[in-house]
Amino acid sequence: MSTSTARIFVTRRLPAPVEQRMQALFDVTLSPDDKRLEADALIAAAAGHDVLVSTITDIIDAEVIARLPQSVRLIAQFGNGIDNIDVNAAHQRGVAVTNTPSVLTEDTADMAMALILSVPRRLPEGATVIPRDGTWPGWSPTWMLGRRLGGKALGIVGMGRIGTAVARRAKAFGLSIHYYSRSRRPPQIEEPLEAAYWPDLDKMLEHVDIVSLHTPHTRDTYNLMNEDRLKRMKRDAFLVNVSRPELIDENALASLIESGELSGAGLDVVNNRRHINPRLLALARDNRIVLTPHMASSTLEGRVEMGETVIVNIRVFLDGHNPPHRVLPESGTR
Ligand code: 8YV
Repeated sequence: MSTSTARIFVTRRLPAPVEQRMQALFDVTLSPDDKRLEADALIAAAAGHDVLVSTITDIIDAEVIARLPQSVRLIAQFGNGIDNIDVNAAHQRGVAVTNTPSVLTEDTADMAMALILSVPRRLPEGATVIPRDGTWPGWSPTWMLGRRLGGKALGIVGMGRIGTAVARRAKAFGLSIHYYSRSRRPPQIEEPLEAAYWPDLDKMLEHVDIVSLHTPHTRDTYNLMNEDRLKRMKRDAFLVNVSRPELIDENALASLIESGELSGAGLDVVNNRRHINPRLLALARDNRIVLTPHMASSTLEGRVEMGETVIVNIRVFLDGHNPPHRVLPESGTR
């Protein structure tokens, strides 16, 4: 199929430069209103298209895959994580799936570091004091005290691209680096970071002062931070998550922070399928946790590069070759 005749349906509005480039290359149908599509609407909109450019807000499970028009041969995800797509079902149906890793690594790591700084230093809380009513009681020796980062131990769960990028930043802030991953990273990763590998996650959780999650959401990592594991964390420790909400038992986390058994959390991702957990909202309003609206990769530069990566995946696929970022069943990204 020639690139110019390929019919592409883009489920959400993308940065203008990306849409313009896609329109120059392909026969593109853009989302009319940037609204999230339910299954029926997604399947109807995909009719007559060869490629679906999806995002995290598209639930493409086995039922949707089975109902996709025969014409759809590629799901090109605008995003690194693909836990919204049943890759096994797509593969069995001969539909390829691609994603956009690497281009959002540094931006996502920046946000993780911002949360690692924000929670103990109470930044969001402090940033609301003066604008609130334009008055400020003035400096006092014991007011707005936070906790120091330097010298603390950071535990990274999932030492992949983003985890390693966070470790680099954290080391520059004087944190010691500890990590748990399915497999030990090579010396050229560990040595510059003086990173300590913990084959036992539970043991690492008992030792570190900050835990930052950088593992994808898979069957194996669902509820990874369950009540038992959260209880292993130190009393004045806190948790950061820029990955997926499904990694954490949100109610158990809320209980431990409410009871003072955990000092706080910085969450860029929360479960908002139906509504956000009211206990997390109450803790955020009380400045005991920091919540940000899934913006870890939200930079114009990053999102444009994500779009360019989608375009490369589509063009290589249409040329009959294996796209650079093909997602394979089970093993995740090649
Ligand atoms: C994306 C993300 O913006 O890439 C990911 O996995 O969570 C975000 O960076 C989002 O997934 C868009 O689909």
